[in-house]
Amino acid sequence: MTAFPENFLWGTATAAYQVEGAWAEDGRGPSIWDTFSHTPGLVAGGDTGDAACDHYHRLDEDLGILTALGVGAYRFSISWPRVRPGGRGPLNQAGVDFYDRLIDGLLARDIAPVATLYHWDLPQELEEAGGWPERDTALRFAEYAHLMGERFGDRVRTWITLNEPWCSAYLGYASGVHAPARTEPAAALAAVHHLNLGHGLAVQALRAVADPAAQLSVTLNLHHVRGVSEGDADAVRRVDAVANRAFLGPMLEGAYPDDLIADTASVTDWSFVRDGDTATACQPLDMLGVNYYNPTLVRQWGGGGGRQSADGHQDGTASPWIGCEDVEFVRQPGPYTEMGWNIDESGLTELLLRLRRDHPDTPLMITENGAAFADAVDADGRVRDERRVDYLHRHLSAVAEAIEAGADVRGYFVWSLMDNFEWAHGYAKRFGIVRVDRDTMERTWKDSAFWYRDVVAANALPA
Ligand code: NOJ
Repeated sequence: MTAFPENFLWGTATAAYQVEGAWAEDGRGPSIWDTFSHTPGLVAGGDTGDAACDHYHRLDEDLGILTALGVGAYRFSISWPRVRPGGRGPLNQAGVDFYDRLIDGLLARDIAPVATLYHWDLPQELEEAGGWPERDTALRFAEYAHLMGERFGDRVRTWITLNEPWCSAYLGYASGVHAPARTEPAAALAAVHHLNLGHGLAVQALRAVADPAAQLSVTLNLHHVRGVSEGDADAVRRVDAVANRAFLGPMLEGAYPDDLIADTASVTDWSFVRDGDTATACQPLDMLGVNYYNPTLVRQWGGGGGRQSADGHQDGTASPWIGCEDVEFVRQPGPYTEMGWNIDESGLTELLLRLRRDHPDTPLMITENGAAFADAVDADGRVRDERRVDYLHRHLSAVAEAIEAGADVRGYFVWSLMDNFEWAHGYAKRFGIVRVDRDTMERTWKDSAFWYRDVVAANALPA
């Protein structure tokens, strides 16, 4: 048995666009993901989030599942276009009511609501005004944070400003595989900055109105970057700069790293950064949210043309890896999940220990970890997803190891509570510990859900 610290917070996570559905109901406005998924050819199978998991209408059933799992917390995101369609102007009361029901429902069941303000669903009107590359989007985000703090701040005690701004900036504006599907590297770096600024402004706004005991946080998908050999240190440094320190720098240290500015000089002069911005981005945080799936392996590019483009490999055009033109992303040994991501939990331990070393005063929370597999429903109706159980077990052991070595990890959230809309991959990639039947929307506990319930109850991993 591997035991976890007393008061360790166990949870599951979802995001609004991935589970809610009801995309055009009760006054919700369109987001960039509605536009993206309604554009033929952008999402696998032509899938959209129009119905998603119908969570909007099945709230009580889903609250029941959380109760039966016994989790202490539930991480969800608030849909900006549902509560403030268009991104500005008055609140949409029906949208606010939905989150009131969710939050009150959680509290009534003794489950702590962990609310993410931005999990990628930018109101379409704000994109039409320029989106994250524009400073105004950060200001609108701060207003929205303020309004949410006023509405829910008496009951939500844990807030996450942004989810994985790396994806919003680089996948949305550089590689274009996420909404709003733009391929403009300079705009992507401007988006990085305005996400950082928006985060800082949102923290200020929440501090002003939310419960004084509220825990404020941001969730980053930090890349645990390794080099093939020692000679690849510069490749590691470049990827770390653009992927990790582009956010950790301003948010936790109040400055962009010099090497990032130098590496990206041919793309932008960073003149969108105004005096005082990085100080604003750097607000004291109560916790840092970490999403981890697998490590990243790189080496110095060996030369020659014909660069690969799959999954972030350089192709010289629409790459998310700005400033990493001489870096090659190396396929790692398996086993792999259904996403093609290698399974290697040692990266999680190492990442947590690096954060402890670099930011010793910032407590950590694993806000996402999990795996997609092509689960089958057996003849007896059971989903024997032993590979997901194994994945979760390995990664929880890795968390325990980091805690043992001194990392201050306060909680862990499985991605995801249920199978859902996996962005450009559509519904084919199933991350849930609960299965969602795409025809009937029926929820079925997978073996991993029963396993997780037992881990939560024991506050420990089985031997
Ligand atoms: C990161 C994102 O936050 C989430 O929305 C996504 O579904 C999972 N990782 C899996 O890719």
